[in-house]
Amino acid sequence: MPSLDGKVAIVTGAGRGIGREHALALSKSGARVVVNDLGVTLSGEGADTTPAQQVVEEIKAAGGEAIANGENVADFQGAKRMIDEAVQTFGRLDILVNNAGILRDRMLVTMEEGEWDKVIEVHLKGHFAPTHHAAAYWRERSKSGEEIRARVINTSSPSGVFGNVGQANYGAAKAGIAGFTLIAAQELGRYGVTVNCLAPNARTRMTESAYGELAVPEGFDPIDPAHNSPIVVALCADEAQHITGQVFLVHGGAVNALHGWDAGELFYSEMGWDGDALLSELLKRFPDGVAPSGMFEAMARAGGQSMRTL
Ligand SMILES: NC(=O)c1ccc[n+]([C@@H]2O[C@H](COP(=O)([O-])OP(=O)(O)OC[C@H]3O[C@@H](n4cnc5c(N)ncnc54)[C@H](O)[C@@H]3O)[C@@H](O)[C@H]2O)c1
Repeated sequence: MPSLDGKVAIVTGAGRGIGREHALALSKSGARVVVNDLGVTLSGEGADTTPAQQVVEEIKAAGGEAIANGENVADFQGAKRMIDEAVQTFGRLDILVNNAGILRDRMLVTMEEGEWDKVIEVHLKGHFAPTHHAAAYWRERSKSGEEIRARVINTSSPSGVFGNVGQANYGAAKAGIAGFTLIAAQELGRYGVTVNCLAPNARTRMTESAYGELAVPEGFDPIDPAHNSPIVVALCADEAQHITGQVFLVHGGAVNALHGWDAGELFYSEMGWDGDALLSELLKRFPDGVAPSGMFEAMARAGGQSMRTL
């Protein structure tokens, strides 16, 4: 296991599910951890410090060091307070894992404005705000001559990178997070910060709402949330300093460094196209039409599996 001794990590939404596993794994590797969690319902209501506190107790019982933080990651000033608290308590910040999230699934034709806004806010602004304040902290240290080896790990979703029916709000936010990762990686590399992203899969209350209670198999359980954390620990190692801007799909023992939007079918005309000519070329090249394959088929190609078939 890579040693993260001396490093300080924040994991957002770490009171339960995947974030809890990240916090436990980072602590086991030697990091001191800020366990952030607002303690909301799956759809983002309420507030409760108990889940974060419980994870802190677990870490301490195992001999690690952690504090609970109850800020809302989508609150710009709250995100700053969270970064400041990490630095004030532990003297530094090395790792930010943006993981907090909610769901408000609905077909887009019936989706209400509030369902769109809230999901976009928690995921997209909830990634931007902590990353912004952490980046400002790292930039300042880098400018003062320190060698920085900092990490941001974001959380997208198969829904965002492949597209999933019923999740226009969530999938758009998660696709945005993959795009945000590319840009943040390019901007923050100069300060010694790598920025990568997960597209995780796990049995948590989030997937239970879509698939119902999923039976725990005997032996290896591919949707144990803990499988999503080794890639986080690995990316946080000093040796991974030059791996950045990647989106990793994780499903059980499969970790796939995905290819995102990239050059594809080129339609080129030296003098530019007119609509008629381009339409005939489109029909010639796509005689059977063309459409997204959907999340489950794309996941299978990447080495994962739909939870529907588990
Ligand atoms: N479970 C999966 O299969 C799966 C698949 C793809 C992506 N994800 C993503 O992984 C992340 C973790 O999901 P999970 O399945 O563990 O869900 P979860 O509901 O078990 O945990 C999410 C945690 O985030 C916290 N949270 C929500 N809004 C917050 C806010 N504004 N500020 C601080 N904390 C907040 C919640 O209180 C909760 O404890 C999410 O971003 C989710 O979208 C999960």
